[in-house]
Amino acid sequence: MTQIPELDVDPYAPENLLNPYPMHELMRETGPLVKLKNYPVYACARHQEVQHVLSDYENFISSAGVGLTNFNLETPFRPKSLILEADPPQHTQMRTILSRILSPRAVAQIRESFAAVAEEMVDRCVEKGDIDGIHDLAQPYPLKVFPDAVGLDDEGRENLLLYGDMVFNSMGPRNELLAKSTERMIPVTQWIMDHCGRDMLRPGGFGDQIYQAADAGEIDVKQAAMLVRSFLSAGVDTTINGLGNALFSLAHHPEQFAKLHADPAKARSAFEESLRYESTAQTFFRTTNKTCDVAGHVIPENTKVLCMLASANRDPRKWENPEKFDIERRASGHMAFGTGIHGCVGQVVARIEGELVLSAIARKVKRIEVTGQHTRRLNNTLRALDTLPLRFVPA
Ligand code: HEM
Repeated sequence: MTQIPELDVDPYAPENLLNPYPMHELMRETGPLVKLKNYPVYACARHQEVQHVLSDYENFISSAGVGLTNFNLETPFRPKSLILEADPPQHTQMRTILSRILSPRAVAQIRESFAAVAEEMVDRCVEKGDIDGIHDLAQPYPLKVFPDAVGLDDEGRENLLLYGDMVFNSMGPRNELLAKSTERMIPVTQWIMDHCGRDMLRPGGFGDQIYQAADAGEIDVKQAAMLVRSFLSAGVDTTINGLGNALFSLAHHPEQFAKLHADPAKARSAFEESLRYESTAQTFFRTTNKTCDVAGHVIPENTKVLCMLASANRDPRKWENPEKFDIERRASGHMAFGTGIHGCVGQVVARIEGELVLSAIARKVKRIEVTGQHTRRLNNTLRALDTLPLRFVPA
């Protein structure tokens, strides 16, 4: 059995968060499994091994946390998620409820209202011409449609952004990024937990539907509040960055935008390709439940395994010309939503948000011009933009 190579790379160093791609290549080409020098973790950066680890939920568990912190050894920064940070049978019970609420059929009901907001927001951007892709579109759109669908009031929604930033930073090391995002941890967490209560949720919304599962005796009221928290943690920042990265990719590949403009029906595949090309969720971890084998290498029990989703999405073993952003590619099989039993339960919602916004842009905008230097918001897990100066040239 060959030795597992050790690499002196820090996935959380600012330069790697700013531009992770050279590090991904180094990790992928070093081997199917590597050890990191500065963290007690093994890492896989190739598509095949990422898929293997995420699919084998019995050996690679989530209940010890899906970030760097091993909950078997350290206390989590917040009470554990009942779905993301859980294994069967508890996971199955919670997942059944959320999958029902977010099923393609159920989500089809909200499509019309999501579409109306997309049309209106893109119209406003076209009227303005010079926009900030993040602050004028990628951020306000999910922040309007998703909490509306959950059934939240309009007031205080900026707390969702602060909370998302904190949750995804908490999956990395206790570095400056985490310290900065937890500065307002107490009031922000309080706001979130208050808004998970049934009295704060409009009847009929996704949140209320979770409480209906409690009425039916499938879960108790405390569990219902925690499942609403899962929506509020995972459903906003992820989609904002998914949209931001899609705008970024289209703006920097005018020939691809021209194809989308010529055929707006390509909006769905364009969004899918941008998820592959610039993956919002860069990493998730698992923990070995017993001694495990990955690509012929032995990983000891209770060890963290870093799955590099974004790197798997550019693995040349899986993709032809992985560095090419190509909206006509079949991008299915990407790891941007994870895979296996924990594969994103909100992906139907995320996909309609992406499709509707890109479709509106495709029809209303002839050309997207980059008018200034974008800036990034560094986060330990998410690939996020802070600003993206663009011009929408009307069709
Ligand atoms: C572009 C947008 C999104 C991306 C890239 C994304 C990505 C992911 C990924 C990679 C996972 C798997 C985590 C793991 O395996 O440990 C996940 C799980 C999850 N996502 Fe998403 N997500 C997005 C949008 C959403 C939305 C809109 C919602 C809510 C409606 C949501 C709710 C969840 C939940 C609750 C889980 C946990 C599922 C489970 O453990 O069974 N996500 N997401």
